[in-house]
Parts: sequence; structure tokens; C-alpha cells
Amino acid sequence: IDPTLDLIEEINKLKKEKNAVILAHYYQEPEIQDIADYIGDSLGLSQEAAKTDADVIVFAGVHFMAETAKILSPSKKVLLPDAHAGCSLSDSCPPHLFAKFKEQYPDHLVITYVNCTAELKALSDIVCTSSNAVEIVESLPVDQKIIFGPDRNLGAYVKKKTGRDLVLWNGACMVHEIFSQEKIQQLMHSHPTAKFIAHPECEDHILAMADYVGSTAGMLKFTQKDPSQKYIVATESGIIHQMQKASPGKQFIPAPPNNACACNDCPHMKLNTLEKLYNCLKYELPAIELDAQVIAAAQRPIERMLEISA
Ligand code: 13P
Ligand code: SF4
Repeated sequence: IDPTLDLIEEINKLKKEKNAVILAHYYQEPEIQDIADYIGDSLGLSQEAAKTDADVIVFAGVHFMAETAKILSPSKKVLLPDAHAGCSLSDSCPPHLFAKFKEQYPDHLVITYVNCTAELKALSDIVCTSSNAVEIVESLPVDQKIIFGPDRNLGAYVKKKTGRDLVLWNGACMVHEIFSQEKIQQLMHSHPTAKFIAHPECEDHILAMADYVGSTAGMLKFTQKDPSQKYIVATESGIIHQMQKASPGKQFIPAPPNNACACNDCPHMKLNTLEKLYNCLKYELPAIELDAQVIAAAQRPIERMLEISA
């Protein structure tokens, strides 16, 4: 890339030329969030992907998110700035193993968390996100038997909230599983007025300490409405950019993880850069391609979710 190029100006030009829209997840780099047409959580992003009239969707997020957009809008070009932007949670549930697992429970309905491959969605009855998982389980009859995957932590949280007995797949997110209970307790002690907010992909003992549990959009909304001035935030730290923008006077402290680098960035989300975004829009690559049969089978479970959450 020519170093004298004003990437933001060029991206905006290309966006107009190609009738493209940029959708970004809250975990993206601040400069990507700032150039996006829409920033949101997984539910908001799928709703936006389903209704956009753009010809090209640039998905600044990870692979499963771009796939979901492609499933909802198969005739559109869906671009992902870095094709290697995957997801540890999605990787923790290979579809061929899940198909075998599912065979053991033939009378169960399958709810999958959106953080999974298109092939896994194709094996599901309903998809959900962290913001509607409880609502979706509660929309089903109380005697309905349910398999929930791939996130065991969100699954355990939904079980607790609904009192339903879900069969869980044993998957997890590498970012949300490394928070240190001890270090969070120390931080709470040194900031006694701070509220502790957490994403339901965190482990049960972390959620048990939280003043609020919710999706990224839910956490953001909570910090806007709540009167406190300080928050300890247990999710990927990219969300703090929007929290800070929405409440400039408040203080947001990333919850400390157990790892040596003390960092809770998602290495997959952070693969996307402004340069890659510019290149993908310019050359229309990498584009998401999915098998037509997979699209056909995965569409209904996602649409069921959108209908329930409309
Ligand atoms: P939400 O933004 O839907 O809460 O999802 C969090 C996440 O881990 C996305 O990868
Ligand atoms: Fe996947 Fe976790 Fe990264 Fe979200 S934060 S994309 S669930 S690895």
C-alpha cells in the first residue's frame, strides 16, 4: 500500500463506488469501529446483514459472522478483511463430531450459539446469540428436550437462568475462559465503587461475582443507563472503545486475565486491520463462498432466531 494514501478517505470512496456497507463487531480495533456503518453485537450484526440493500458487505469481524451474513444474503458479495480471522469457540465444535453427538439424542432439538461454522448451523434447529439465548430457550415448551452448543459457559448460564436441563457440548472461547477470579477480586477491592460486568461466555465462578451479565451490546447499554462511574469489564477489551465514547466521563477497567501478557484481546478479531479492510474492498477479496446446500440448511435456523428476536 502507498504510505501516502489516506486509507479512511479511500475506503469511503470505494464504499460509495461499490455500494458497500461496513459492519463491525465491538471487538474490532477502534479505527475500524470508527469507519463502520454499523457496529454491534452478533444479533445486531445479523439483523443488519439481513436487511441491508448494499451490494457488498464488508464484515469486520470473524469468519462465522461473515458466513452468517452470506447465509442471510447469498446473492450479495460478503468480504472478510482477513480470511484467517477464525474463532476458538467455533473451532471447539467440529461439525462431524457434533453430528455423532447429536445422534445420541434423537428426540432433542438443537440450539446452536451463532459462534459456529455454517455446517454446524446446518445441523441445528434454531441459532441463538448471547443476547437472545435465554429468550429462545424460554420460547420452547417446558418439556422440550434440548441440545445446546458449542459454548458450555453460555449453556450453563442459560440452564441456570431458565431452569431447563440442556445437554451441553463442551466448547469454550479462549478469551472469556482466562479471566482470573483472584485478580478481579483484588481489583474490586481497590475500586470499591466499580461495578463488575461480564459476558456469559465467562465461566460460572466469574459470572457469580457480576453485577450485570449480558452480550456486548447489553453491557454497553448497561454502562450508559447505570449511574455508577466505574466498571470492571470482563469481555474482549475492544468494547471499551464504544463504552468510553458513549460515557466519556466514566472509567472502564479491563478485567485481568490469568495469562502472562495480561491481555484479553481476541487474536482472531484483531487480525483485521484498516489496511486489510482497504485491500479487501478494493480487490473484493477474500470473499465468503459457501456450498448452496449448506446455505439452504443453515438459513432456516437463523431465520427462526430472527423471527423470535424481532
Ligand atoms: P456478542 O457480541 O454477541 O455478545 O458476542 C461476543 C463474541 O464473543 C463474539 O465473538
Ligand atoms: Fe471467538 Fe472468543 Fe474471539 Fe469471540 S472472542 S471471536 S468467541 S475466540
